[in-house]
Amino acid sequence: MCGIIGYVGEKKSRSYILEGLKKLEYRGYDSAGIVCIDEKHKQFSFQKEAGGVSLLKKLSEKVTFDGSVGMGHTRWATHGVVDKKNAHPQFNSDKSIAIVHNGIVEGYEDLREELIKAKHAFESSTDTEVIAHLFDELVQEQPTLKLAIMSLVKKLEGAFALVVMMEQYPDQLIVIRRRSPLVVGIGENEHFVASDFIAFSDKTKDVVFLPDTSFAIVTKNNIDLFDFDGKPLEVISQKVKEEYTQTDKQGFEHYMLKEIYEQKRAITRSISFCKVIGNSSSSCQSDETSEPFSRYKEEYNDCIWRQLGITPKQVKNLKSVNLIAAGTSWHAARVAQFFFESFCKIPARVYLASEFLYMPFFNQEDSVYILISQSGETADTLQALRLINAQDVPTIALTNVASSTIVREAGGFLPMQAGPEISVASTKAFSTQLSILYWLANRIALEKGLISALDMHDSEEDLFIAAEILETVIESYKLKITHELAEQYSKYSRFIFLGRNISYPFALEAALKLKEISYIFSQCYPAGELKHGPIALIDEYTPVVLFSTLDKIVYQKIVSNAQEVKARKGHLLVFAFEGQKELINIADTAFIIPKVKPLLGPLAMTGLMQFFVYHITCKLGRPIDKPRNLAKSVTVE
Ligand code: F6R
Repeated sequence: MCGIIGYVGEKKSRSYILEGLKKLEYRGYDSAGIVCIDEKHKQFSFQKEAGGVSLLKKLSEKVTFDGSVGMGHTRWATHGVVDKKNAHPQFNSDKSIAIVHNGIVEGYEDLREELIKAKHAFESSTDTEVIAHLFDELVQEQPTLKLAIMSLVKKLEGAFALVVMMEQYPDQLIVIRRRSPLVVGIGENEHFVASDFIAFSDKTKDVVFLPDTSFAIVTKNNIDLFDFDGKPLEVISQKVKEEYTQTDKQGFEHYMLKEIYEQKRAITRSISFCKVIGNSSSSCQSDETSEPFSRYKEEYNDCIWRQLGITPKQVKNLKSVNLIAAGTSWHAARVAQFFFESFCKIPARVYLASEFLYMPFFNQEDSVYILISQSGETADTLQALRLINAQDVPTIALTNVASSTIVREAGGFLPMQAGPEISVASTKAFSTQLSILYWLANRIALEKGLISALDMHDSEEDLFIAAEILETVIESYKLKITHELAEQYSKYSRFIFLGRNISYPFALEAALKLKEISYIFSQCYPAGELKHGPIALIDEYTPVVLFSTLDKIVYQKIVSNAQEVKARKGHLLVFAFEGQKELINIADTAFIIPKVKPLLGPLAMTGLMQFFVYHITCKLGRPIDKPRNLAKSVTVE
């Protein structure tokens, strides 16, 4: 993971680097560092600290170094504990080469051993330091810098984005990437470098996305770009339209709470957008030969199928849908499986991106792969996308970040309009994903002639209703949760979550939300599995949180599961729907949600579930927006 940033130009770099690092903290926040080259002495000055960018910023107030070439790093630890030594930049022995790195060098232990034998002394436990020492050797061995870089990339296995500074070449940055993203921003007599455009989005919109397996030597006026074999590559610049608005908490105590309350608007905006592109399908009818969706779009397409990079004929012929994602996005995919199977009457398979990579790939005819990622930068999901792209199968990205890598690499993409999600725990992205996938399943069903235009319209209205309920139900329980229930439930040290049918993947999401922000151990099972083992865990000290469904038959089974818990003196908290008396009466605590369309039950419950978990966590005094050990964007496999 990690965020990396660099500057080469006429201005001083330090303030840009520190500001940019703050924007990149979503990629990791356990330590941070900065290095600049002193113009007069052509020497590095650097500072690194364990802790977030704010701490680095604060401590660096006492330091005066600056320079017109510099770089910085915000870390999510992969190799070595979180401490100052393992923070980046990392250096070679005489500290004349500095490196910041995002990614993981596989098999770095062997390289390290060889280097130790060659008398290199290491200060850290990082794979990055190995790169610095190795590069040092290669620079001395090879006749030119370019050959040294080419030799370096041949020796490195795994994924990496690197920015390298050398005292020997004080006016340049070397940028190198394999799989992990890097982007160069073009200014006037200056270049910016970062792992994400948002780091310099207030400085320039003209960018060069470094192609995969390429490297560049960047000076203030020039970019020399090469592939890993040293072949010069054309530098293709493009304009990014996306605005990065650094939102504040707007009076909320945490971003998470603010984002919980933004869900209704995020869903409404997203579905309104889908309605616009979804309704102008007539212009798609003759597009069988049209160009696939362009790699980086400045404007959205006016037609849903062109936007998604597939033809109406392909949609009509679809025989299966595949959904691939990680974490919360995977939970959204698992809920959405029910949408596609129910509306489109075709099998939907859901894969965890990290597992998909190591499973046999069966090329299915008339199928489509939908990759779901809030950030669009999740390494597992991107790797899965690359694997599928190699098979020449249609791929669609569903993401919240239009300038992300997934958009550039997928065949087409559907943007979520959730707005920036700052809190590490995903909230509004999840509900927006559910909403868009519900809409998309309906839109495919319409194209296939399985539902009418009126049904489509009704489904859109149902989504707006569910979004409304998501918010109003929070208000109904706000006082009870904040004054009573949060305190009561924050005293437990473990929870069991249960769901059945469509509420099972939702229960998985609830359990993830609780564990990731409160650190309370939470285990989730399909309710029907309770009797096959987990029932042994039921006792009065382990609350069972059970999520109901609106399917009448499944509901009856859920009532039986609730009884099984109560018969063993378990403590039962239920999320039930209006009228589900048996369940409500048997529970120790019941949240009652107004009825919505059956498949939208999870969406209607989302806000309240998150709000409840949020307030339990507040009672425990955890750093809610930045839980320990996590990062917003998981850019390592
Ligand atoms: C949990 C959470 C993570 C992400 C996961 C995938 O609250 O946010 O589980 O959902 O890391 O991230 P994206 O959706 O950006 O691919």
